[in-house]
Amino acid sequence: MEKIKIKKGVLEEAQEIFEVSKDAFSLHSDPLPLSAIKETLADEGGNVVFLCSVNEDTGKINGYIYFWIAIDEAQLYHVGVRKEDRGKGIASLLMKEGLLIAKEKGCVLSTLEVRESNEAAIGLYKKYGYEQVAKRKNYYNNPDEAAVLMNKEM
Ligand SMILES: CC(C)(COP(=O)(O)OP(=O)(O)OC[C@H]1O[C@@H](n2cnc3c(N)ncnc32)[C@H](O)[C@@H]1OP(=O)(O)O)[C@@H](O)C(=O)NCCC(=O)NCCS
Repeated sequence: MEKIKIKKGVLEEAQEIFEVSKDAFSLHSDPLPLSAIKETLADEGGNVVFLCSVNEDTGKINGYIYFWIAIDEAQLYHVGVRKEDRGKGIASLLMKEGLLIAKEKGCVLSTLEVRESNEAAIGLYKKYGYEQVAKRKNYYNNPDEAAVLMNKEM
């Protein structure tokens, strides 16, 4: 069984996180742009929770999660795990740690939006207590698709 460590992402890891994002997001929507990853990791204002999962045997990053903290709301902006590492509980580890940190930062609510067809992500979110609160038609393009908006009280 692989040992997975969850750690805060740092600027020096931006390129490696970008590679993970490209691998994770080729089916559903776009990866996080490298420039956005760099800007986010350079943010020192305390509004960002950006965590990575690392395989302790190889030292390689295989997943990440990114929340933006808006006062007392943790907006789950992105979560991705490399295809070859899925189904091993990695997103769960990232989610649990991310929510814990957001709560410690005073968040009382977490919000997100997700493509309606993204069953894996919706399954993950439901498992961690998010509930659908609205749907927005034609919210995404390439391909056109509705967004499901989900909230979780913390
Ligand atoms: C969504 C994603 C992050 C899940 O990562 P993962 O490490 O495989 O997830 P885990 O193994 O921790 O699974 C946790 C839970 O998610 C749900 N889940 C994961 N894969 C699923 C699938 N293919 N279908 C339905 N539910 C799924 C299940 O509830 C699962 O719990 P269980 O194992 O007790 O059934 C991964 O599939 C991914 O990177 N997808 C592409 C990127 C993306 O679409 N991100 C979300 C939009 S930002």
